[in-house]
Amino acid sequence: MIKNDLFLRALKGETVDRPPVWMMRQAGRYLPEFMAIREKYDFFTRCQTPELASEITVQPIRRYGMDAAILFSDILVIPQAMNIEVQMKPNFGPYLPNPVRSQKDVDNVIVPDVKVELDYVYQAIKATKELLNDDIPLIGFAGSPWTILCYCVQGQGSKTFDKAKEFCFTNPVAAHQMLQKITDTTIAYLKEKVKAGVNAVQVFDSWGGMLSPVDYQEFSWQYINQIIEALKDDAPVIAFGKGCWFALGDMAKSNASALGVDWTCSPRNARYLTGGNITLQGNFDPARLLSPPADIKKMVTQMINEFGKDKYIVNLGHGILPNIGLDNAKAFIDAVKEYNM
Ligand code: CP3
Repeated sequence: MIKNDLFLRALKGETVDRPPVWMMRQAGRYLPEFMAIREKYDFFTRCQTPELASEITVQPIRRYGMDAAILFSDILVIPQAMNIEVQMKPNFGPYLPNPVRSQKDVDNVIVPDVKVELDYVYQAIKATKELLNDDIPLIGFAGSPWTILCYCVQGQGSKTFDKAKEFCFTNPVAAHQMLQKITDTTIAYLKEKVKAGVNAVQVFDSWGGMLSPVDYQEFSWQYINQIIEALKDDAPVIAFGKGCWFALGDMAKSNASALGVDWTCSPRNARYLTGGNITLQGNFDPARLLSPPADIKKMVTQMINEFGKDKYIVNLGHGILPNIGLDNAKAFIDAVKEYNM
């Protein structure tokens, strides 16, 4: 049994004294201890070596005592396992030298045996569970099929993901086959992660907000919902769609245990759009961690008051930035722990 189960209780919608807190990308470049490991090992070596991945996962926990840990890994291990080459270029980000652009390319993409191809992830989970000693829950994650397709087709990060959209809009049959292959791989992968020990899973739809509400239903949400339906009896599922406030109403009708919200949607509006009954997670502007620590504390307290302490998980609205001060991150976590009604 997990000693601090605040996070799991919030996912169940139970009444708590204060909400749980963690930060997206909490194992990251703002931490000097992360940078020390990063100097010695390249990105995918860190992901593929269980001793490194587990150590990096617990670094922020040791420093700040968040209420949940998230496994250090990446959403792009999925296309890698599907036989698509993925590189992580320093000062550039993800680079896929052979992007998927045609029906033939889609035909060449495999649905792998995730038990074999991603075994290193489950080993990292087991190593992390040992380090965590059941003190707090461990979160596993995957990218949404749409967000993974964005990288597979575009070949790199983008402000518009125009090539990914062009592929969907001009070759919808091939695009849907690709999305289904990613979905099938992701479902099998997340089920293995739960078997290996993660206590909840989060689906990151980082680029869902690039789509119109109608296109979002067709190219993103229906596939996320397949993942939720497949996983709901294995572990609680958190669906985070960046920029997807317009879909919160539909998302709230799903079997997700919680929905992630970014900072462009007010707490009040997020509660209104979701009907007030589902657990919400978010939504501090990551750049607001650049404010002085005293201001951060005030704003976090106000955010909790606006969401309400129950059915709520305190988080940022997207990943933490590399240039955040250590005391600023601490102020964010401490404000939640010091919260009293
Ligand atoms: O939250 C955590 O602490 C767990 C670790 C985690 C990473 N990536 C490690 C990482 C998680 C949850 C991810 C998810 C991920 N990866 C997403 C979805 C979440 C989001 O932020 O929108 C996306 C879109 C990716 C793809 C990806 N990986 C990009 C665009 C980049 C480069 C961006 C950058 O900041 O340089 C990565 C690399 C990456 N993944 C880093 C980390 C800590 C930084 C690079 C490094 O450490 O060398």
